[in-house]
Amino acid sequence: MTLRSYAMNQATFPEMYERWLVGPLFQPWADMTLEEVRLSRGDRVLDIACGTGIVARVARERLGNADFVVGIDVSSDMLAIARAVAPDIDWREGNASALPLHDGEQFVVIVCQQGLQFFPDKAAAAAQMRRALAKGGRLAVTTWRSDDEIPFFRELRRVAERHLGAISDQRYSFGDAALLETLLREAGFNEVRSKVVSRTIRFEDDAPFLRLNAMALVGMSAAGKAMGDHERKRVVEDIVSESAPVLQPYTDGSGIAFEVSTNLATAKG
Ligand SMILES: C[S@@+](CC[C@H](N)C(=O)[O-])C[C@H]1O[C@@H](n2cnc3c(N)ncnc32)[C@H](O)[C@@H]1O
Repeated sequence: MTLRSYAMNQATFPEMYERWLVGPLFQPWADMTLEEVRLSRGDRVLDIACGTGIVARVARERLGNADFVVGIDVSSDMLAIARAVAPDIDWREGNASALPLHDGEQFVVIVCQQGLQFFPDKAAAAAQMRRALAKGGRLAVTTWRSDDEIPFFRELRRVAERHLGAISDQRYSFGDAALLETLLREAGFNEVRSKVVSRTIRFEDDAPFLRLNAMALVGMSAAGKAMGDHERKRVVEDIVSESAPVLQPYTDGSGIAFEVSTNLATAKG
């Protein structure tokens, strides 16, 4: 992710991501995706854009050991957390468009969860996935739908835009399922299909989530990138406090709950 690390209670962005976002927001989809690819014992699994490693970790749990699981991410900071949480998994630093694989190394299952939208060269990344997938192997790629379709995130973005001007939020920048399918077909995958999956996400403590979301929006905006640390922190605080009314309809007394939708594309090697 191109998000900067911010000092907040001494925690870095990857630490906060793992601590506050992975459980409520990313783990449920990792479970769903590994169900979808019917992960079974003995499968070699590659988690591309693994971040702090939730898909690889869930795969390891299901497989019963870490011998067949590899996670790759471009961010050494995200990988540092992945290594700290699960030192037994093979974590590799590298770009999705030039995967750091051994000669002829292939996998029976490849998952890329909410990473593709960040890759500058998606066609190169899809070609790399194709090369890495064994004949008959199973691929799953997820990308969030556009935030214009996710009212909660759209409304939070609008609050941030009052401070920062128009924001093109990379997290929701590859929401078109037809484009995703075409990308995979053109890379040579077979049996390419996609579906939209929605689920309700719940945060018991909304404060860290709100702050991380504001940090992400500031970090992705042209105005935010031009700011010094002090100004950036101030704008994050302003966005967080002005977001309170957006949260209200999603609050149920013990946290917030809102619906999120993703594309889930699957294909075969
Ligand atoms: C939203 S996070 C998703 C992480 C993880 N898959 C999860 O579900 O928690 C996106 C990840 O994509 C990684 N990423 C962005 N561009 C990349 C690239 N070109 N190659 C590999 N990883 C990349 C980021 O470093 C980040 O960890």
